[in-house]
Amino acid sequence: MEHGALPVFVSVLGLSLALCSSQTYVLDDKAGLGRVFDGVGGLSGGGATSRLLVNYAEPYRSQILDYLFKPNFGASLHILKVEIGGDAQTTDGTEPSHMHYENDENYFRGYEWWLMKEAKKRNPNITLIGLPWAFPGWVGHGKNWPYDFPDITAAYVVNWILGAKQYHDLDIQYVGIWNERNYDSKYIKLLRYTLDKNSLEGVRIIASDNLWEPIAVSLLLDPELSRAVDVIGAHYPGTTTVKEAVKTQKKLWSSEDYSTFNNEVGGGCWARILNQNYVNGLMTATISWNLVASYYEQLPFGRDGLMTAEEPWSGNYVVESPIWITAHTTQFTQPGWTYLQTVGHLSQGGSYVALTDGKGNLTVVIETMTHDHSVCIRPPLPAFNVTAQNAAFLLKGSFASIKELQVWRSQFNFKSKKPSFYEKLTPLKLLDGSFTLNLAEDEVYTLTTVTTGCKGSYADPPASAPFPKVYKDNFDVRNPPFTEAPDFADQTGVFEYYINMTDPGPHVFTLRQVVTQRPVTWASDADQTISVIGDYQWQNLTITCDVFMESVKTGGVFIAARVDRGGESTRGTKGVFFWVFADGTYKVTNDLAGQTVLAEGQSGTRAYGWHTLSLTVNGQYASGLLNGYPLWKNAVVLTPKNGWAAIGTHSFELAQFDNFAVVADK
Ligand SMILES: *[C@@H]1O[C@H](CO)[C@@H](O)[C@H](O)[C@H]1NC(C)=O
Ligand SMILES: *[C@@H]1O[C@H](CO)[C@@H](O)[C@H](O)[C@H]1NC(C)=O
Ligand SMILES: *[C@@H]1O[C@H](CO)[C@@H](O)[C@H](O)[C@H]1NC(C)=O
Ligand SMILES: *[C@@H]1O[C@H](CO)[C@@H](O)[C@H](O)[C@H]1NC(C)=O
Ligand SMILES: *[C@@H]1O[C@H](CO)[C@@H](O)[C@H](O)[C@H]1NC(C)=O
Repeated sequence: MEHGALPVFVSVLGLSLALCSSQTYVLDDKAGLGRVFDGVGGLSGGGATSRLLVNYAEPYRSQILDYLFKPNFGASLHILKVEIGGDAQTTDGTEPSHMHYENDENYFRGYEWWLMKEAKKRNPNITLIGLPWAFPGWVGHGKNWPYDFPDITAAYVVNWILGAKQYHDLDIQYVGIWNERNYDSKYIKLLRYTLDKNSLEGVRIIASDNLWEPIAVSLLLDPELSRAVDVIGAHYPGTTTVKEAVKTQKKLWSSEDYSTFNNEVGGGCWARILNQNYVNGLMTATISWNLVASYYEQLPFGRDGLMTAEEPWSGNYVVESPIWITAHTTQFTQPGWTYLQTVGHLSQGGSYVALTDGKGNLTVVIETMTHDHSVCIRPPLPAFNVTAQNAAFLLKGSFASIKELQVWRSQFNFKSKKPSFYEKLTPLKLLDGSFTLNLAEDEVYTLTTVTTGCKGSYADPPASAPFPKVYKDNFDVRNPPFTEAPDFADQTGVFEYYINMTDPGPHVFTLRQVVTQRPVTWASDADQTISVIGDYQWQNLTITCDVFMESVKTGGVFIAARVDRGGESTRGTKGVFFWVFADGTYKVTNDLAGQTVLAEGQSGTRAYGWHTLSLTVNGQYASGLLNGYPLWKNAVVLTPKNGWAAIGTHSFELAQFDNFAVVADK
């Protein structure tokens, strides 16, 4: 960082003004370069954050994917990180495992395979990363811990990587350990060994997707561990690292960051950390949790994605400011470019980075985000000041002869509320390798020799609209290649399409809950399974569904209304739950855990027979039908006042659902 305090001359409407406060920043590769850049990425999963995306109709679904992945169009992401589904709740839902059971393998579940292929279709160079949050119960032999049988866990993870190649021709380049949980050095070494043994020497290990310490210290003390790990991935590092991490000489990544509501302050957060993660913390990749906010907004961390696509039923999506902030870096760099050593802070606040391809191209990204307009969800942001300033840049070394730079600008304009994002300005002519910018607060500039930048656009998508008030799914019409029924968002357990080939009766195609053992969890999953659907504002409605229990002793299933929460708080979910059990009884409860009973009695229900349940909630009263006949009525429901509809089971058990229907009051 060289700050020469030279007075520079700025030409304003033909007048030359001497500005004593102006600073000069030298961009030079003479003294050597900084670290190799590894890219900017998005994280799908951790958990179920892309759930609703797959249910968008064309052309909207492809448009959203273009805004995320298409080079020189929108965010043009360099990295896609996905969850290796583990059948458990991992923030906004569960994602299915490729091995629900020990003797089961299926590489066509969920939507992450599809998403990786769509990303790669658009950008064949995209870097792919997999990371588990949770594991099926059998991996831990019933214990909530994946390291007692490290060979089983390593084989399970390596199977996912092999399956990606074998069934989808996807090369996973990096794999992690266990998201934001303990690591075990023995396991990491065994994972390295298992990868190598399967000819996956090229797959690099990221550890530990948590804090810088203690993994950095372990790497310094244990050479074998150090050989196994290529990248230290830290989460929400607040743009800083620790000296032990630098000392390891490993790549340092912010392997999960952002997680901030995607309004303009969210865009400001993203602009600040994309630059300052390198300037302050030498991080060479930053990955946004999450990629795209495609989950019901009332689930935890609603809209904490680079853009919003949470209404497949209307087709509406919103290209939010973080998409264009990403473009400022991604469209003018590639993984493999190198940071210059001359990066740093601006004298009146803000920061600049410069990168080169080593072949003469130069990209400079400058941000002047003020404190209050760039606060991220975490960690707390210490106070700092940013004011308008003139910044002079002087290009030296290989860049001294550059004559022209393309200019892209975003202005958040918080005061006027009329932001302008990623605007292409007239190219800047350079005189003797120098130029001066008149920087206001809350701006982002890219100055670059790269001429391929482009602000992509499509016609406006359809207007936002609530979830339809009349909704039916008999699970007969499917949406290949997906294994999940549209808009059902599993919060505990996994609900998959099922085909019963034995008998062609009326229930050949059903939806089946398939998790039969409590997973090795990441959150404190509920003891019941549940999948939610619909409009969180629903109050008065009738839900009807055919149900089929497959557990003779402990079987129990429910349909529910006014379900008030999901994600990591699913365990405490309240609502109106209508249960029937295989022992011939029914219950109506005010909560998923079944602690507040509103009604109960005999139902004659049993396993291995289909029953039709119907639940009507109106104001303070609820009533239920079994096979079309009243079973209970006028149960008093004071709270919750509104919420989603849901289906689920009493325990981790097999059960099926068919002919799901909701009619909500107009
Ligand atoms: C992929 O990388 C290669 C080699 O760096 C480059 O030539 C090519 O243009 C890249 N493709 C895209 C779509 O970025
Ligand atoms: C910059 O990159 C482009 C390709 O994007 C290449 O054609 C050009 O030669 C590079 N070098 C300079 C100095 O622009
Ligand atoms: C920011 O500026 C204000 C007003 O000049 C000053 O009181 C405050 O100490 C400054 N804060 C920092 C962190 O420099
Ligand atoms: C499949 O259908 C047959 C015939 O109705 C039934 O006996 C069997 O229990 C069903 N199996 C499953 C798993 O649904
Ligand atoms: C639900 O029904 C109650 C009782 O009829 C009524 O007071 C309330 O306004 C209804 N809610 C909606 C959203 O229609």
